[in-house]
Amino acid sequence: MMHDDRSTQARQADILRAAAALAKSELEHEGSGHDWWHIHRVTELAKRIAAAEKADLFICELAALLHDLADEKLVDDPETGMKRTESWMLENGATAEEAAHVMEIISTLSFKGGAGKPMTTLEGKVVQDADRLDAIGAIGIARTFVYSGKKGRPMYDPNIPVRREMTPEEYRNGKDTAINHFHEKLLKLKDLLNTDSGLAIAEQRHAFMEEFLERFDREWNGTDGL
Ligand code: ADP
Ligand code: NI
Repeated sequence: MMHDDRSTQARQADILRAAAALAKSELEHEGSGHDWWHIHRVTELAKRIAAAEKADLFICELAALLHDLADEKLVDDPETGMKRTESWMLENGATAEEAAHVMEIISTLSFKGGAGKPMTTLEGKVVQDADRLDAIGAIGIARTFVYSGKKGRPMYDPNIPVRREMTPEEYRNGKDTAINHFHEKLLKLKDLLNTDSGLAIAEQRHAFMEEFLERFDREWNGTDGL
């Protein structure tokens, strides 16, 4: 019915506005690469990919806006964070079905040192691709050096080997460098993308990272130029 369609749209627009305000206020001063601008970039990418893949725009945008609010690095207890996020959606007018779909997406999102559970819905695949795309390319490079700097880790140390396998604990707290993180995670992300549209964006971002790493290596060894 026309009337219902219009009120659904208005209800969803209100939720999206409130979710953006919530993410902005909670993550404004976050310093590990999950700040509001990460959320903003992921949300814009998710909308573009959702349109190309004909996924549900509302679910994709809402999940993108809320996806890092319960991240283990941001809250002491991710489970409480998850429950808060779900209650927030229900209190702000989401249907039980919408809230459950978004919760399914954001609980599956985190990478945590190994390949996580596969995403089961198209909307989950879209948001996961958008989040992974923000970890690669020029933005991915910048975020990685900011994160390493915040952790007091070196940008590179030839004596710290790249880890082929690691526990979640080692992934978070082991000896690491910014350059190693490319080999331990970021260069693997392209092959984990779910959608063709995401992959098309990832190809360019991946190539840029490879070029950066080759140049870094040449400059490190003093073999560039001349
Ligand atoms: P996700 O966004 O999947 O939760 P993380 O929280 O692990 O991923 O990391 C977010 C960003 O922080 C990464 O894209 C990366 O730039 C940076 N980062 C995470 N772990 C490291 C690390 N060990 N070394 C350098 N940068 C890291
Ligand atoms: Ni994220």
